[in-house]
Amino acid sequence: MTAHTDPITFDTDFVQDLHARYAQLREAGPVHRLVNETGLPIWVVTRYEDARALLADPRLGKDAQTIFRLVMDRFAAVAPETEDGRFAGAGFDMHMLNMDPPDHTRLRKLVVKAFTARRIESLRPRIEQITDELLTAMAGESEVDALDAFAFPLPIRVICELLGVDESRRDDFRVWTNRLLDDIDAEASGQAAGEMAAYLTELLAAKRENPADDLLTALIEVSEDEDRLSETELISMVFLLLVAGHETTVNLIGNGVLALLTHPDQFAALRANPDLVDGAVEEMLRFDGPLMHTTFRFTTEPVVVGETEIPAGEFVWIGLAAVNRDPARFDAADSFDVGRDAQGHLAFGHGIHFCLGAPLARMEAQIALRGLISRFPDLALATAPENLVRRNSSLIHGLQALPVRPAS
Ligand code: HEM
Repeated sequence: MTAHTDPITFDTDFVQDLHARYAQLREAGPVHRLVNETGLPIWVVTRYEDARALLADPRLGKDAQTIFRLVMDRFAAVAPETEDGRFAGAGFDMHMLNMDPPDHTRLRKLVVKAFTARRIESLRPRIEQITDELLTAMAGESEVDALDAFAFPLPIRVICELLGVDESRRDDFRVWTNRLLDDIDAEASGQAAGEMAAYLTELLAAKRENPADDLLTALIEVSEDEDRLSETELISMVFLLLVAGHETTVNLIGNGVLALLTHPDQFAALRANPDLVDGAVEEMLRFDGPLMHTTFRFTTEPVVVGETEIPAGEFVWIGLAAVNRDPARFDAADSFDVGRDAQGHLAFGHGIHFCLGAPLARMEAQIALRGLISRFPDLALATAPENLVRRNSSLIHGLQALPVRPAS
C-alpha cells in the first residue's frame, strides 16, 4: 500500500483553477490526501468507477456528530462548545444529508411523501412565468450580470414558493445562504445561521396556524401524522431544502450559460435545435456542475482505493468535478458537447443521498435555458472569459459575476 503524503492545499488557487488541478490529481492517482485551508486532512477521490462504488458504500458514514467529533480530535484547541456532549450546531444540522441509516431512511421517506413528482410538476407554469418576467426585465439592458438578473432570482423564487416562504424574505435568504456557504468568517456565518433558524421557527408556527397548499404545510402534516419528526428535524429539513435547492441551481444555470457563451458552436447547435436542451443540461452538469465535490464523509473502517488504504476515521470527498471528466468514463471528457449522452454523470451524487431535488433542478434549468436562448439568440459575454472570477467557496463551483449583453 502506498500513502500519499505531500499535502496539497485545497485553497483559493485550487478553487480558481479547479478542473486543471483535479485533472492533474486524477492522472496521478485515484485518491489523494489534501488539506483544506483550516489544515484539516481530506482524502479526495478522483476517478469515476471508484466514486460510484464509494457513494454506495456503507463504510463511508455521514453522521454529523461523528464528523464533529473527528474534527474536534484534530483541532482540540479550537473546537466550538458543545451542549450535553452533542455538537451545538446552529439548530438545523439534524437533516438527512448529515445522517446515516436508519435515521436517514426515516427522514428521507417522510420528505419524499411531501416532495411528490406531482408537486414538482405543478410548479412548471410558475417557473415559466418567472423565467419570462426575468427575461423581460433583462431585455431593456445593454449589459447585465446574468447571475444577479437571472440565475439567482429564479431558483430562490421557486424554492420559496414551493416551501411557502414569504416573498419579502427572499433577499434575506440570499444573504444567509451566501454567508453560510462562502464565509470562512465564523462570526458572520454563525449570525446568519441564527437569523435563519429564528425565521424558520417563526414560519413553522405561522404555517401551523394557517395551513397552506405548500411543501412546508405538507411536511408539517406528514410529520404530525406519523409523529416521527422532531421540531429540530423539521427546521433542519427546511434549512437543507432551502440551501441545497438554491445555490446549486443558481450555479448550474450560471456555469451552463458560461459554457454556451464560450463554445459558440454548441450555442449555435442548441439554437438550431432546441430539442437538445434537456441533454444539454445533463452535459452542463457533467462538464461544469455546481458542486466541486460531495459533502464530507468519513471512513468507519479502513477503505482501499486503488493501491492506497485510507485508515478508519478519515474524511473523504468524492471529487465530482474530477470524476465527471474522467476520460475512462466519458470520451473527450474535457470537451463541452451538447449532443453527447452525458447520463451517468455524478453531479447529483449517487446512492442513498442521491439528490432529492434533481427533478426540480433539471426542470428549472431546462426552462431557464430554453427561455434564454429563444429570447436572446445573440446573447454574448460582456467581458473576456479570463476576467471571470470563481467564487471562493470550498464547495460551490460558481462565478462571482457573469456580465452579458442580452441582445445585439
Ligand atoms: C443532495 C447536487 C439541487 C435537495 C445532493 C447531493 C448532491 C446534490 C451531489 C449529494 C451530496 C452528498 O452525497 O454528499 C445538487 C445539484 C443541484 C441540486 C447539482 C442543482 C443543479 C437541489 C434542489 C433541491 C435539492 C433543487 C431541493 C429542492 C437535496 C437534498 C439532498 C441533496 C434534500 C440530500 C439528500 C439525502 O441526504 O438523502 N444534491 N442538488 N438539491 N439535494 Fe441536491
